[in-house]
Amino acid sequence: MPTIAIISQKGGAGKTTLALHLAAAAEAAKEVSLIIDTDPQATATQWAEWRGDKPPEVIDSAPPRIAAKIAQAKEQGATFIVVDTPPHADSAASRAVEAADLVLIPCRPSAFDLAAIKTTAQLVQMLGKRAYIVFTAGPPNAPRMYEDASELVRTFGIEACPYILTDRAVYRHASAEGKTVLEAEPGGKAAQEVEQVYTWVCEHVGM
Ligand SMILES: Nc1ncnc2c1ncn2[C@@H]1O[C@H](COP(=O)(O)OP(=O)(O)O)[C@@H](O)[C@H]1O
Ligand SMILES: [Mg+2]
Repeated sequence: MPTIAIISQKGGAGKTTLALHLAAAAEAAKEVSLIIDTDPQATATQWAEWRGDKPPEVIDSAPPRIAAKIAQAKEQGATFIVVDTPPHADSAASRAVEAADLVLIPCRPSAFDLAAIKTTAQLVQMLGKRAYIVFTAGPPNAPRMYEDASELVRTFGIEACPYILTDRAVYRHASAEGKTVLEAEPGGKAAQEVEQVYTWVCEHVGM
């Protein structure tokens, strides 16, 4: 029953997108997944409203309540929990990291975004948690760029996930309809990338 925390000090990094898609991929794999939305902007909660009754369920939580909400969700049968966090919120990110089995840090593969990862990397290191960068919204077919970006984040003491969620327009239509790319374009390139990241995450939490 793993808990995955999605953090990044940077807004627009792809946290909520990654959180929703991992939870949806888990549901598709017959897990009972839950998203805990700790962002006061409530983007994941908004998506769930657009989505209607379909799982995954999204609940909100104030940062100090994260651990209690996770325990309660597990009691009620949740088998895969994703905690989405706001940017610039050390307390929410810290509580989420403390409660997590695995921490993912989405990051666009651009110089500004990569530089901003340093503080997020320091936070997870201070808390002694296993964390990986997941590159998001960068160009497809640019292996060299991801190799360089991975090399750079390694100098911050953090490894990158070998699978990438590249920039695909389908994310934008899908979210606006309360869907995921798995539903908007089943079997499409974005869906395949999500499935690769999900499978990789499962391996890293011993599922
Ligand atoms: N892989 C991707 N391809 C295309 N657009 C993306 C991708 N990941 C995120 N986005 C878009 O980027 C914007 C910010 O993403 P979001 O997940 O809300 O970031 P955060 O939660 O870190 O602020 C959203 O409009 C989202 O649809
Ligand atoms: Mg967000």
